[in-house]
Amino acid sequence: MHRGKGMKFVGDSRVPAERKPNIPKDYSEYPGKTEAFWPNFLLKEWMVGAVFLVGYLILTVAHYAPLERVADPTDAGYIPLPDWYFLFLYQLLKYEFAAGDYTVIGAVVIPGIAFGALLLATWLDRGPERRPIKRPIASSLMLLAVASIFWLTWESVSQHDWEAAAQQGAIVEEIDINTEHIGYEIWLTQGSCIGCHGDNMAGIPGVGPAVFESDYTKEEIIELVNQGIGEMPGGLFTGTEEELEILADFIAADGNPE
Ligand code: HEC
Repeated sequence: MHRGKGMKFVGDSRVPAERKPNIPKDYSEYPGKTEAFWPNFLLKEWMVGAVFLVGYLILTVAHYAPLERVADPTDAGYIPLPDWYFLFLYQLLKYEFAAGDYTVIGAVVIPGIAFGALLLATWLDRGPERRPIKRPIASSLMLLAVASIFWLTWESVSQHDWEAAAQQGAIVEEIDINTEHIGYEIWLTQGSCIGCHGDNMAGIPGVGPAVFESDYTKEEIIELVNQGIGEMPGGLFTGTEEELEILADFIAADGNPE
């Protein structure tokens, strides 16, 4: 009996009807344009990678990350700023047509259209041409997008108050002082000390240092408050001699006397 005669064959879609041998294509027509993956190609890739790695290492050593103070969720006055690659979106939200009541337009609609079009570009733009000049619509839309991103980023950088931001984010050393102590009471009330050193004694940048900066003894502090030192005039203290002693004790003990 003939094999398969009178039998029905059921097709399996996983098995291709046409069998092709698993041989890589022949690139011998392109002499010099092929190379062995191992080790030639991999070595080149590795060398490029190493150059970048060393470059980044040097950059991280030479350029420390611009850290700010620890985030404080209760500080409503702090103006946050996104990283540079999001500045254009941030800037977009400052314009009237995209802010306030229309914030949905700036936050969802405009970016949605732009990124949606980018996502659908392969289906929208099906022309066979590859040269940018032969694809005027795609090319001009891309140029427009690049120009707007560049301009918005530029605007947001130039509109930002960098000085105020640097002060807001400045890392100030936390100084733990006993604010219940009588010495602190004297600090706040006897003289204008807080005007230059701050009510927390931590100093005010550009005006006066932290009062604990140098490790002065009680006697030295009494002396320098009476006589003045450097840019600080003497005779600013308005309390009694005993009060100055208590304050000097307080400062000498870095704000935490026994
Ligand atoms: C006009 C601003 C000003 C006022 C007001 C002022 N200081 Fe000063 N104070 C300074 C400056 C500036 C220095 C740094 C002087 C220097 O070392 O050159 C200083 C330094 C000090 C130091 C030494 C800090 C250190 O460790 O190096 C102490 C302590 C001090 N002040 C206490 C006081 C007290 C107490 C009062 C209030 C009676 C007071 N200051 C008021 C400006 C001021």
